[in-house]
Amino acid sequence: MRQLNEDTLTEAVVARLKDVENPRFKQLMTGLVRHLHGFAKEVQLTEEEWFEAIKFLTAVGQKCDDRRQEFILLSDVLGLSMMTVAINHKPEPGATEPTVLGPFFAHGAPEFEYGGDMTKGATLEGEPTWCSGRVTSTDGVPIPDATLDIWQAKADGVYDVQDPDAAFELRGRVRTNAEGRYAFRTYKPAFYGIPTDGPVGVLMEAMKRHPMRPAHMHAIVAAPGFRQVITHVFVDGDPYLESDAVFAVRDSLIAKYERLDAAEAAMLGMPPSSYKLEFDFRLSPDRPGAGQARKKIAASDAVG
Ligand code: BEZ
Ligand code: FE
Repeated sequence: MRQLNEDTLTEAVVARLKDVENPRFKQLMTGLVRHLHGFAKEVQLTEEEWFEAIKFLTAVGQKCDDRRQEFILLSDVLGLSMMTVAINHKPEPGATEPTVLGPFFAHGAPEFEYGGDMTKGATLEGEPTWCSGRVTSTDGVPIPDATLDIWQAKADGVYDVQDPDAAFELRGRVRTNAEGRYAFRTYKPAFYGIPTDGPVGVLMEAMKRHPMRPAHMHAIVAAPGFRQVITHVFVDGDPYLESDAVFAVRDSLIAKYERLDAAEAAMLGMPPSSYKLEFDFRLSPDRPGAGQARKKIAASDAVG
């Protein structure tokens, strides 16, 4: 067909997908074209606005390298990352809820023994915290030898991977013992701002939004025969729990950091008035057909 107009163009573009063999790809492209055209028509997109948008997307791409993922950040602040998590993870009764991965996961973090110290070699001090708990199935049966991949920001709100000279810091892998328990020493996380020195920062400013994330520790918890969960543990009482820049808070992931008493601190070899966090992760069985399992973290997901 030629001489297309705003009423006929969309279906003409969709019709050109007729030879696509992969049905899922065809569905994705059809939906994308229809929604993009629908958006342009709904807001009566001007050519100047579309050119600005192209300049913005170009800048987002140019900001990316092997340590910086501005597209993930864009997806996060638009709520699209959390939307895909929500779509793909219908609530599983009793299971730890997932939330966004974020752009600062890194492969190959050092392994720590039970009770190991993730603050060793830290370039910034924080508030010492004894972090422990169990990994269990949804019906409460302890899972020995589960893996927890943990990462969190330094006290200045910056992740090790954001610093080109930094080594692994406040990042590590621990395993549960025969009773399904894990334990390690870390710092109490602090709230921080997502990176605003790129185009996403300019967008946040234009949207009159703050860039802050409530204090949290990241965890990917996995065990054979169970669905891996990519999640956070948030600090109860944080001022940004209601307005997380990336919409990732879930009530069940908010935990209390409490002071260790003197006897507990002495027993654990922690400084007086350290914090403790006790948090259990619950994994659902890895049943085929129980919804789309979240892709296991692959090398291509790593930034840094
Ligand atoms: C994070 O928690 O590390 C994070 C998540 C989304 C965007 C930026 C940072
Ligand atoms: Fe984070």
